[in-house]
Amino acid sequence: MCGIVGYIGDGHAKDIIIEGLKKLEYRGYDSSGIALYIDGKIQVRKQMGRIANLEAVITEKEFDSHLGIGHTRWATHGAPSDVNAHPHGNGDETVAVVHNGIIENYVELREWLSREHGVKFRSETDTEVIAHLIGIYYDGDLVDAVYRAVEKMKGAYAIGVVSSHEPDKIVAVRKDSPLVAGLGEGCNFIASDIPALLRHVRKIYLIENNEVVVLTTGDIKIFNQDRKEVHREVFHVTWDAASAEKDGFDHFMLKEIHEQPKAIEETLSRRLDADGLVKLDGIRMTKEDIESFQKVYIVACGTAYHAGLIGKHAIEKLAKIPVEVDVASEFRYRDPFVDDKTLFIAISQSGETLDTLAALREAKRKGARVLSVVNVVGSSVARESDDVFYTWAGPEIAVASTKAYTTQLVCMYLIALFMGRTKGSLDVETYQSVIRELSAIPEKLRGLLTKEEEIDAIAKDLYRCESVFFIGRGPDASVSFEGSLKLKEISYINSFAVAAGELKHGTIALIEQGTVVIALATQERLFDKMLSNIQEVKARGARVLGIAKEGNVGMEQQADWMITIPDCHDDVAPLMSVVPLQLLAYHIAKLRGCDIDKPKNLAKSVTVE
Ligand code: AGP
Repeated sequence: MCGIVGYIGDGHAKDIIIEGLKKLEYRGYDSSGIALYIDGKIQVRKQMGRIANLEAVITEKEFDSHLGIGHTRWATHGAPSDVNAHPHGNGDETVAVVHNGIIENYVELREWLSREHGVKFRSETDTEVIAHLIGIYYDGDLVDAVYRAVEKMKGAYAIGVVSSHEPDKIVAVRKDSPLVAGLGEGCNFIASDIPALLRHVRKIYLIENNEVVVLTTGDIKIFNQDRKEVHREVFHVTWDAASAEKDGFDHFMLKEIHEQPKAIEETLSRRLDADGLVKLDGIRMTKEDIESFQKVYIVACGTAYHAGLIGKHAIEKLAKIPVEVDVASEFRYRDPFVDDKTLFIAISQSGETLDTLAALREAKRKGARVLSVVNVVGSSVARESDDVFYTWAGPEIAVASTKAYTTQLVCMYLIALFMGRTKGSLDVETYQSVIRELSAIPEKLRGLLTKEEEIDAIAKDLYRCESVFFIGRGPDASVSFEGSLKLKEISYINSFAVAAGELKHGTIALIEQGTVVIALATQERLFDKMLSNIQEVKARGARVLGIAKEGNVGMEQQADWMITIPDCHDDVAPLMSVVPLQLLAYHIAKLRGCDIDKPKNLAKSVTVE
């Protein structure tokens, strides 16, 4: 997610904006920039890398102003670079724009602007389109030009606009991306996040969807989609700066767990066209390529590896290609059977995990086609792949991966659907039903997240446990491995996941009076088998937390605790069953006083052997 800061007032816009951008650095970014109104013109400076790089190019004394907008970019469309950094101008820089979000129809708009208006684009971004739209619609009224521009845009966006035509105002718009306006003394602000403004203001307007905000030095006006002014209560921020970075959540991990519905919507956005057909940007695989694959290897580490396990279920079922899943640290040393008939899928949130990168290079050396599923645009794994499919989860700050995992699952389903339809192994009904199921997940997740208190109560029963077992069958076994990793890496409880059918082959020797077993049973065709496994461990004294779909019959009687997930097709259940496990791990770790966002011995990106 990008960071936006805008200022208009009596003070020094440059310093105030740069300082505000620095308050947003925690969100992660790959470039930054600023646009200031100076001597009748909009001056734009932007640099790849840290904000210090930007500061190094705006040292001139006269480079200051009463009006400006600034931006930290987290790349989604267009690799990190100076030219792709924001703000973006409209060619003659009479308009400059900063943007957070995704313009879903930017390709069509770029083509239209080039064809009908002779626009020459300088960047690869969707954002530049906005600046040109406002520029061509400007006819003496900046607010009107902005309204007309956003009417052509589809997608999620928060934008800030300045213009040398009207240097007495900032215009900003919100649609599905966060935006606030700050009320100051002799100055006013816009920002994508409250932390950017806290040093200067605590009176905030929370801008709602499809609203346009017009700021002058002494005034903030808010208008709705029909251009009618709306009244908005002032929100008085009482948070300190540290908690404001987490939007009021106690930890980034909890914030990111709650961001999952939005992250999944973003990852799905632009990948389902008007007819609901899957369109995979960044993937150039042809029908011939897909038909030539005799095997898929999915290789990753940790949580990303667990996402690969679900990817196996999806690709084998929907694309009918055999899939092998391997941890990268093993794959790279086993001299794997890989050739030019292999599709190698690397999954990596950071795109910098050394083992995964090394495995990818080994697969390429052996002739495989490499597709990567990555969250960081322009990262090493992305750059070295033949095709890249981005999770648009936004920056994931907590070491424990949550929203990256669920968006990786979404990418697995989309790749499986795309390959299945392309090679004709997937009938339309199944294809469309899976897409319907995926599209319904964000709302179902929002409902599931309201059970957090119920899950916290269970955490209070469990947080003193010395060990916890996770069991499941099929996709539930794969999710069990992820739930176990979440618990152990942030609460330091010794946790173990095992396929439920494997219990009797050894692990059940460890079950004794009071042992806690978390049993996932979301797969209807395996539900009775799971009930038997629960009876097995209960008979040996275990206490069982059951995770099953609403409406399941029989688990409540068996389990000591129950968490139900909204009804859904078995195939997409992992997108929901993992969330109670994330929340449970979080609340247990919190009760144990652990350093949740930065667990001991762990790093967010493991760039060493
Ligand atoms: C996940 O909670 C862990 N922090 C860790 O297992 C992580 O998933 C693994 O290191 C892979 O990282 P990547 O996705 O950035 O490659």
